[in-house]
Amino acid sequence: MASGQLSRAGALACTGCRHACHVMLYCDTKTQLFGRLPIRHIILMQMRFDGLLGFPGGYVNPSEETLEAGLSRELLEELGVALPILVEDHVDCCHAPASSPYSSSRLITHFYVKKMEEEQIREMERTAASTATDHGQEVLGMVRVPLYTMKGGGGLAPFLSHSFIGNARSKLVDSLLRLDLVAPEELHTALAHSLKLHA
Ligand code: GTP
Ligand code: MN
Ligand code: MN
Ligand code: MN
Ligand code: MN
Ligand code: MN
Repeated sequence: MASGQLSRAGALACTGCRHACHVMLYCDTKTQLFGRLPIRHIILMQMRFDGLLGFPGGYVNPSEETLEAGLSRELLEELGVALPILVEDHVDCCHAPASSPYSSSRLITHFYVKKMEEEQIREMERTAASTATDHGQEVLGMVRVPLYTMKGGGGLAPFLSHSFIGNARSKLVDSLLRLDLVAPEELHTALAHSLKLHA
């Protein structure tokens, strides 16, 4: 575990902490953009009500439900599917920076990753836009992450130059590296380019 990080048990032992759980759902795909550019993986993120990109999930109250049951409930609200989440899907958790020096309730954000079948991901994209209760309200839409880099620089770099909630951007980048979803050199080039686009 990297320094500054908490264990799941350590996080739950914090009295007076609030918890939020979010998950990166993804799958492999053989689909090609324009019939020639491999998409490789579908990763689901969302455009939130506040205009920021983030992962599906939300606040969980561990005195009422387990972290995983709470995340599953949030997925039902935001994606329209009651997807079971397991303790094994928990990747890490950390203290979110205090929103104000006077705020007393500290927030711990938990990050999960779950690999799915392509058909399950496609089905969630459909239900997210049809039966999910939060669609059009708290969630403006699900978006896929473009993992490729096009000749003109389009793809991952401009995606990373958007604004993200909390540490969602770094959780995405960490996961791309850790799960080997993008080659490290390609990712570093895209990261450097995204910072120039942001400036
Ligand atoms: P409400 O139903 O309105 O309470 O929203 P919610 O339960 O869906 O909560 P939300 O998804 O907004 O997440 C709660 C808090 O967790 C946010 O205010 C952010 O501070 C943080 N957060 C949101 N999305 C992410 C994310 O993708 N990654 C991380 N690390 N934190 C996030
Ligand atoms: Mn693949
Ligand atoms: Mn929610
Ligand atoms: Mn949410
Ligand atoms: Mn909620
Ligand atoms: Mn809500």
